Amino acid sequence: MRRKLAAGNWKMNGLGANLAELEKLSGLHGAPDCEILICPPATLISTARVQAGEQIAIGGQDCHENTSGAHTGDISAEMLKDAGASHVILGHSERREDHDESDSDVRQKACAAIEAGLKVVICVGESLEERETNNTLDIIGGQLAGSIPDQVTGENLVVAYEPIWAIGTGKVPTLDQIGEVHDFIRTRLERRFGEGVGRSARILYGGSVKPGNASEIFAVSNVDGALVGGASLKADDFSAIITAL
Ligand code: G3H
Repeated sequence: MRRKLAAGNWKMNGLGANLAELEKLSGLHGAPDCEILICPPATLISTARVQAGEQIAIGGQDCHENTSGAHTGDISAEMLKDAGASHVILGHSERREDHDESDSDVRQKACAAIEAGLKVVICVGESLEERETNNTLDIIGGQLAGSIPDQVTGENLVVAYEPIWAIGTGKVPTLDQIGEVHDFIRTRLERRFGEGVGRSARILYGGSVKPGNASEIFAVSNVDGALVGGASLKADDFSAIITAL
């Protein structure tokens, strides 16, 4: 039985004062029956780790593929771990687009993250054009094959399906469309890694998840939780999403 996961991606939002939301969230969910993960900007990870309490995991939003060296402005997986992170989001479409990250880049980062002892949340998702030309499953299949390294386990792998056109737009695929992609991802994971890993890895849906649509999305087969952007910034909204899990 897979444990549900509610993950919040704060993206490039959050100053020290915003950690009050995290404290509020930890007060609301003292002993949740799902896993809660918050990925604040890297500047807040250490403080967030202290303020979040035991029940909330803290993660990074990206890491470099190398462990150290002359890479100005970058952060290694080991540094994230040292700051208190247990997870890292990799291959988010905003990274793929803003920083030209390829599947191969994501795979190398994932190798480094696993080596450092982090769990990886690897994002995949199609553009609107790819959806409208019926290429969604081909695109997702290619991203899965190229971005996930061989050494993942059912414990340290989370896949997030995030249709690019649904991120921050208020648009959400139909429940059938979400189910089709999540079933496809599950099948691909089982085929490549075997039933043990394939059935244990969590698959999250991300893209305009709100308190009002969370329950119906979480009821779809093979949806093991959500990767939430905008609605994770306010404890009340994120809490309502957690409660819907
Ligand atoms: O990582 C989170 C996703 O990009 C979803 O963002 O909930 O603001 O649409 P959103």
